[in-house]
Amino acid sequence: MTTPTAPVGVFDSGLGGLSVLRDLRRALPHERFVYVADSGHVPYGEKSEVYIRTRSTLITEFLLTQGAKLIVVACNTATAAAVNHLRSRFTLPIVGMEPAVKPAAAATRSGVVGVLATTGTLSSVKFAALLARFGRGVRVLTEPCPDWVELVEHGEFDSPQARGVIARHVEPLLAAGADTLILGCTHYPFLRPLIAEIAGPDVALIDTGAAVARQTHRLLSAHGLLAAAGTPPESAFYTSGDCARLQPVLRRLCGDCAAHMHPLPAAV
Ligand code: SIN
Repeated sequence: MTTPTAPVGVFDSGLGGLSVLRDLRRALPHERFVYVADSGHVPYGEKSEVYIRTRSTLITEFLLTQGAKLIVVACNTATAAAVNHLRSRFTLPIVGMEPAVKPAAAATRSGVVGVLATTGTLSSVKFAALLARFGRGVRVLTEPCPDWVELVEHGEFDSPQARGVIARHVEPLLAAGADTLILGCTHYPFLRPLIAEIAGPDVALIDTGAAVARQTHRLLSAHGLLAAAGTPPESAFYTSGDCARLQPVLRRLCGDCAAHMHPLPAAV
């Protein structure tokens, strides 16, 4: 039987979900979080659905051993491949990501929207359904950016090489008239300054971290699981990747100089 003092579990293929954790901490300042970065298996974007479902299931089981009262799948690719599977298998509330097609379609003035995401997200049944529902009346251009995840995992946010990699994907969308770009992978908000610089001031960049944080708040409240006001205990960070290499990137991305990366148990 879970209680309001239990932590919220958050996971991603790597460090990208820390962009969602930032929004979650803003919206839910009294909650404790347990975050899993599956950096030993990143990127998910080019992997099969079966592979991603297996990873997502193992990580969810681990988060349950940590007492998680709700899970946030802070990864667009894992949501597309595995969230329905997780919901059918586990009874706790599970929140997922989805590219912000609805707000982008409402915001565009040129009628052209670019979606930056992984191949896995863009080729998923979930994304096709999202487009059919909210993409009518606008031209939606999709752009897989498999190399952006690696930039974030290696803490490369502003190098000339990162600029070149980002420009290669953004410039064709701008040339096709896009005035609204959807950041459809949770790693991409960490590249926002560079994307914004390349896209220019007239192009809107949209992600769904804040909306996911609001939905998490709503679900916790509906289940009577919101933590009471007060300073929460330290959040915990686990990874299947190389702790020593990820540690400085973790601290930089979550703005928490005390954050410490722990290894996941070998069975996960
Ligand atoms: C990836 O691991 O390829 C990206 C994860 C995401 O879609 O958020």
